[in-house]
Amino acid sequence: MSKHQFTDQRIPIDEDNPAIVRNEDQCIKCGACRRVCEGEVAVGRFYDLKSTGDCPICINCGQCANVCPTGAITERYEYPEVKKAILNEGKVVIFSTSPSVRVGLGESFSLEPGTFVEGKMVAALRQLGADFVLDTNFSADLTIMEEAMELVKRITEKADPLPQFTSCCPAWVKFVETFYPDLRPHISSAKSPIGMQGPTVKTYFAKQMGIDPSKIVHVAVTPCTAKKFEIRREEMNVASKEHGIPGMRDTDYVITTRELAKWLEENSVDFHSLQDSDYDKLMGTASGAGVIFGNTGGVMEAAVRTTYYLATGQNLSDDSLNLQPVRGMEDIRSANLNIAGVPVRIAVAHGIDNAKKIIDSVISGKCEYDFVEVMSCRGGCIGGGGQPKTEVPMSDKVRKSRIEALYSKDSRMPLRCSHDNPEIKAVYENHYGKPGSPIAAQSLHTHYIDRNADLGPEGMVDKSFVSPPKYRCAPCGHIHAGAISEKFTCPVCGVSKDDFIGRKFGNKRGTMSCTKKVTDDLIWVGANDRRLGIFESVYSVPNGVSYNSYLLMDEKTVLMDTVDRAVQDKFLENVDTTLGERDLDYFVVQHMEPDHSAVTKQVLQQYPNAKLVCNETILQYIKQFFDFEADSRVHLVKEGDTLNTGKHLLHFVFAPMVHWPEVMVTYDSTDKILFSADGFGCFGALNGAIFADEVDFAKDYMDEARRYYTNIVGKYGPYVEELLAKASTLEINMICPLHGFVWRKDLCDFISKYVHWCTYEPEEQGVMIAYASVYGNTEQAAEILASRLRDKGIKTQMFDVSFTAGSDIISACFKWSHLVFATTTYNSGIFVTMDALLNDLVAHNIQNRTVFAIENGTWSPFSGELVYKKFDQCKNIRFPKNMISIKSSLKLEQLSEIDAMVEAIRDTLPESAGGAIKE
Ligand SMILES: Cc1cc2nc3c(=O)[nH]c(=O)nc-3n(C[C@H](O)[C@H](O)[C@H](O)COP(=O)(O)O)c2cc1C
Ligand code: SF4
Ligand code: SF4
Ligand code: SF4
Repeated sequence: MSKHQFTDQRIPIDEDNPAIVRNEDQCIKCGACRRVCEGEVAVGRFYDLKSTGDCPICINCGQCANVCPTGAITERYEYPEVKKAILNEGKVVIFSTSPSVRVGLGESFSLEPGTFVEGKMVAALRQLGADFVLDTNFSADLTIMEEAMELVKRITEKADPLPQFTSCCPAWVKFVETFYPDLRPHISSAKSPIGMQGPTVKTYFAKQMGIDPSKIVHVAVTPCTAKKFEIRREEMNVASKEHGIPGMRDTDYVITTRELAKWLEENSVDFHSLQDSDYDKLMGTASGAGVIFGNTGGVMEAAVRTTYYLATGQNLSDDSLNLQPVRGMEDIRSANLNIAGVPVRIAVAHGIDNAKKIIDSVISGKCEYDFVEVMSCRGGCIGGGGQPKTEVPMSDKVRKSRIEALYSKDSRMPLRCSHDNPEIKAVYENHYGKPGSPIAAQSLHTHYIDRNADLGPEGMVDKSFVSPPKYRCAPCGHIHAGAISEKFTCPVCGVSKDDFIGRKFGNKRGTMSCTKKVTDDLIWVGANDRRLGIFESVYSVPNGVSYNSYLLMDEKTVLMDTVDRAVQDKFLENVDTTLGERDLDYFVVQHMEPDHSAVTKQVLQQYPNAKLVCNETILQYIKQFFDFEADSRVHLVKEGDTLNTGKHLLHFVFAPMVHWPEVMVTYDSTDKILFSADGFGCFGALNGAIFADEVDFAKDYMDEARRYYTNIVGKYGPYVEELLAKASTLEINMICPLHGFVWRKDLCDFISKYVHWCTYEPEEQGVMIAYASVYGNTEQAAEILASRLRDKGIKTQMFDVSFTAGSDIISACFKWSHLVFATTTYNSGIFVTMDALLNDLVAHNIQNRTVFAIENGTWSPFSGELVYKKFDQCKNIRFPKNMISIKSSLKLEQLSEIDAMVEAIRDTLPESAGGAIKE
């Protein structure tokens, strides 16, 4: 039995973990720590306590502390020890501050995220009793000198393997040491900035300042909990070796940004009234390159600046100093550079889960990069496990504010390259010789340990596919992951297990679901709505409507879109039941119209490990429609990107304006299924069927499919055409739209309808007659026309535009080749309902039609002219005959005009449709 409690809910933490501790009294077993460690951090899902001898594996990143809502997990406090050292008069206490502390600390004192408080931070440390305050950014510059030199060597001499991975993040280094020890030669041997700052303080600084190194207590102030582990690595004892002082550590303590804030509060330091103070001179100057070390992509950008200099002897131009492709928050960012004629391919990953993708490519031999920056924390060190908890969980908005503050500082600095820093030149001149020199190699470089044995006999496992069952507390929404005992109560609101919704209990969820099997591993989890009167506030849906969502139960589970708010309960129940005890891994959003995306927030809340797969525009719309933090959940895709879910490979194909600008469709190349978003949809509830071939589609649904197409996407024919062109390159066995039936048979017939519709070619040769009549005289003329057309064998369909919904008539206009509009003149214009219809029809981009008008008026009929004018903007509209003009009522002598119109219609119809054109 494990000595760790509640391991099905929480991530286990060892008592002797040097970085973090859990205070049992404060833990409410919410599971957030486990979710982050198994998700974004990834570590938690790659080991099994049974194999490790009950020893948790931890890379000390502190992200569990960041998400812990109650503060039960904190960093292991070291500031009390530092306080003691300050009180010890025999000690010289030297603080070195990391780049990210100065853009985080202010938040603990109610300042906006990203407020740059360097001066106050230095002043605060002096007030606490610092003898010296140095800048770790100085050593960031030193790291770059060594790391860039190493990269140049790897590329030119090929002594060590490529890609070279950065080494500044001790959590990342420990991850590789534990899970992928064979990749250790890829990690730069250069120590992290703190790894270099420690020995430099106790050797160079001590010597220059005439301080007895044995008296120095060196304290790193960092955003990072993993540094607490790093300074205790065996090899971090260069000063001990150099001075022959056993037990001396290069850095004695690490305190986090949060610890510093706590200490300041305990000492009642009035942070806001502190007067800015400068760093001490020696080891207190850094370049902009050192500043941006704090954010994801910053180490890479800093390294490129110096690598370029080492290779060319020149600095990058001012314009090229900002390396935009590696900036931002995308999971992995990359760029192809050309440095002195040598192509250098670089990439930046933040979060171990993202770095693992690059690791996998290295192992499979498919990695195309030469140099890769990896930072364990999302956003880099600004998002470190010891940063202020301004929000729990931390949002990308906060991260971005901190990042922006660092970039802004860099851009304002006169010195932007590590190699230009005069302090760096001095430390080499006076102490280390030159980058890569023997003394630099001894003090500033390190080696890595194989920790794979820590994983035990099972080695690395992947628990990704064995996610715990999940239950949702009905009253408060709290999600509980893991088994629930009889006595279980909600840690948030205290209700009993009976109020938790989950399949296990056979209550509500699970017993009332209604799903349909589409393929062996694809399930329809949508719902029908037959109570909706008007769809999108304009289209009547007398037969209801279906909102389709599909759940792919592959090795990874994937949900395709959601449903309208009206049916969200049914939908959530369907998803829950289908997932059973599995978790949701991916949630693909193809289209942001609320009838498909209304339940986005609930899905992400209910499945906190699910990655949101969408494109940039969709993400933007999500932020517009909702107010939750989406960036940390998102997996952005570009046109042509793929997602491997195990057996299936999903391809994302952008379909802008196939109804909205953000739309994308998804092609499953394994089963050859096209998830077509709004394309190929249909009004009408499904009535128990799921496939179009289960019903008489042509008879019962085709008109609704046409009405759906013309009204929803009819205006965007060229875009639909573009999508059809893309689709024609794919082998498609099945189409899964967001409304209506799934197509698995006769796909070509339905696609050919789409070809007609999107090119605005009529589907049938015949006449659609729409009339608007107040007193019935115009109607009568229309009836006579229709009757005489039928006498000639010409098909007709009639509508009273004041009675039939516009969407039906527009749909008919897309179907028929000839259109007759008969309307009274009304207040010197077209009758209102007819006017509205024509406006709508023109807005739907109708083209390629033969149009006739009949006008009526008592004193000044001229609505016919206005009808023709409406079509001015439409392409290829033919008017073979002037309108028939009626004054109040049709007279006997005007019947010849009706006949003339019949003839004009006949003349433009083929023989097969009752016309005169020979075929
Ligand atoms: C409110 C209103 C406004 C009208 N405006 C006009 C007009 O501007 N010009 C005109 O010639 N007739 C106008 N009329 C008369 C009708 O167009 C005319 O009586 C026509 O013959 C009616 O045809 P119907 O029997 O098909 O309704 C108007 C009628 C109404 C009720
Ligand atoms: S309160 Fe939640 S996040 Fe914090 S330790 Fe407990 S289970 Fe983990
Ligand atoms: S510190 Fe990081 S690796 Fe360790 S338990 Fe917490 S989240 Fe997991
Ligand atoms: S990203 Fe920075 S803060 Fe996070 S673990 Fe790595 S070094 Fe520490």
